[in-house]
Amino acid sequence: MISENDLAKLSYPEAPRMVTEKVPGPISQKLLEDSSQYESLARGAGAFPCVYDEGMGSTVKDPDGNLYIDITAGVAVNSVGRRHPRVIKAIEEQLKKLMHATDMTNTRRIELAARVSGVMPAGLRGRCASYFTQGGSGALETAIKFARRVTGRTQIAAFHGAYHGVWCGSGSLTTGEVYRLGYGPSIPGVIHLPYPYCYRCCFNMQYPDCNLQCAKYVDYVLNTPYTAADDVAVLIIEPQQGEGGYVPPPPGYLEVINAACEKHGALFLADEVQAGTGRTGKMWSIEHSSVQPDMLAWGKGMGGDMPMAGLTLRKNLADKIPEGSQPNTFAGNAVAAATTMTNIDILTENDNALIRRAAELGEEIKGWLLEGAANSRVIGDVRGRGLMIGVEMVKDKETKEPLDADSIGRIVFGLLNRGVIMVPCGRYGNVFRFMPPLTITRDYCQKASEIFLDVVKEM
Ligand SMILES: Cc1ncc(COP(=O)(O)O)c(C=O)c1O
Repeated sequence: MISENDLAKLSYPEAPRMVTEKVPGPISQKLLEDSSQYESLARGAGAFPCVYDEGMGSTVKDPDGNLYIDITAGVAVNSVGRRHPRVIKAIEEQLKKLMHATDMTNTRRIELAARVSGVMPAGLRGRCASYFTQGGSGALETAIKFARRVTGRTQIAAFHGAYHGVWCGSGSLTTGEVYRLGYGPSIPGVIHLPYPYCYRCCFNMQYPDCNLQCAKYVDYVLNTPYTAADDVAVLIIEPQQGEGGYVPPPPGYLEVINAACEKHGALFLADEVQAGTGRTGKMWSIEHSSVQPDMLAWGKGMGGDMPMAGLTLRKNLADKIPEGSQPNTFAGNAVAAATTMTNIDILTENDNALIRRAAELGEEIKGWLLEGAANSRVIGDVRGRGLMIGVEMVKDKETKEPLDADSIGRIVFGLLNRGVIMVPCGRYGNVFRFMPPLTITRDYCQKASEIFLDVVKEM
C-alpha cells in the first residue's frame, strides 16, 4: 500500500503558489527573450511561456518563485517525479565510478539490458536484446533500419496521427504539418493507415457496431493484391496514441491488425515511448491487449531525469543485425543506465504497486473530469487509461468542431496563472493531457482537475 503522505514528501508542499501577478513573471520574461535570441524555437514547446528553474516530484518552480503542479511530467518523462531521492542517490554513487564509456559496453549498461529484458511483455521477456539510444527518435530510426535489415523488405506501415520522432526516418512516420511541411521529401516506402480514433471515426461508424472496420481495413491493405503494400517490413503503432490526441484503440483492434501483419509477414512494433513505463496502468500499453510485439521502442519515462531510450527486439531478430553496423557514441551512458534501473525498481517494486495505483487514480481523475464534462459545453470527450488521459475540447459537442487555437492558448495561460502546467496535443491541438508523474499525490491531482475545470468554465 503506497502512502499518500510518503508521496507528498517527494514534491514541494503548498503547490500551487503564485508570487507574480501573471505568468511569465519579470525574471522569466527576460529569460524567454534571451531564449528566443539564442535558442532555436524549433524546440518542442515552441514559445511556451514558462521557464523551469527547480523541480521536485510533481512540482516545479520558475525563476520568479512561482510554484506549479506539473501535470505534464515533462511530457510523460518524469514517471517517478523529478529528483526522486533514490534516483539522486543512484546518480551520486555512479558519478564516483563511471559516466561515459563510449559505445563499448559497461557494467551498468549490461545490467540495464538484462533488467529491460525482465520487464518486457511476456513474448519478449528473457528472449530479446536491446539497442540503446538517447531518445525516442533514435529508437524508431533504428527500428526502421533493423526491420529492413532482418526482413529484406522495404516498406514501413504507420498511422495517421502518429508521432514517432523527428529525424529523417522517424519523422517520415510522424504525421502533422508542423513536423513535415518544408522538411521533405520524407523517406520512401512509408504507408500511413487510419488510427482507430473512435471520437472522430474516419469511417463515420460507432464501436462496437462498426465491427472494427478500421482494423479490417488494415488487413485489406496488407493482404489484398494491388493495394501497393507489397513488402511491408514492419507495422509501427502507438498502442495508445500520444501526440495524436491521447487516443486508446478500441478492444480487439490490436489483435486484428497483428493477425494481418502475421498474414503479410510483417513485424509488429509497439512504440511505447510515451504510453509505456507504467503510465497506462500496465508496464506497457500493449499489455492491455493480447498482442506480443516483435519489437518494442521505449524512452521518456524509463530514463526519467536522465536521457535514455532504446529498441528491444526478439533475440532471433537481433542476431541477424551485423556486428558493429550501427555505432552510437553516447549510447548506454552509465549514469543514465543506473538512473533507468532505479526508475524501473521504484515503478515495479511491491508487485507493480505504483503502476497499479496509476490505473486506479486514472479512473478517479476521469470520473472528476467526466463530471465536469457533463456541465461543460466545450469538453467533448474524456478518454485514456491510467495516467494518460486526454480531454478533447470542442466548440460544439454536436458538430465536434475543434476548439480554436486562441481559446486553447487562453486555457493554457489561465492554468499557468493558477499554478498548473498542462500542454495540449492532438491533430487539432485541442486535447489537454493529464500525464502527471506516477508518484503524484491524489490531492495534487484533485486540485489540478478542479483548477482545469474552473479555468475552462471561466473561458
Ligand atoms: C510515441 C513516441 N515515439 C517517439 C517519440 C520521440 O521521442 P524523442 O522526443 O525522445 O526523440 C515520442 C516523443 O514524444 C513519442 O511520443
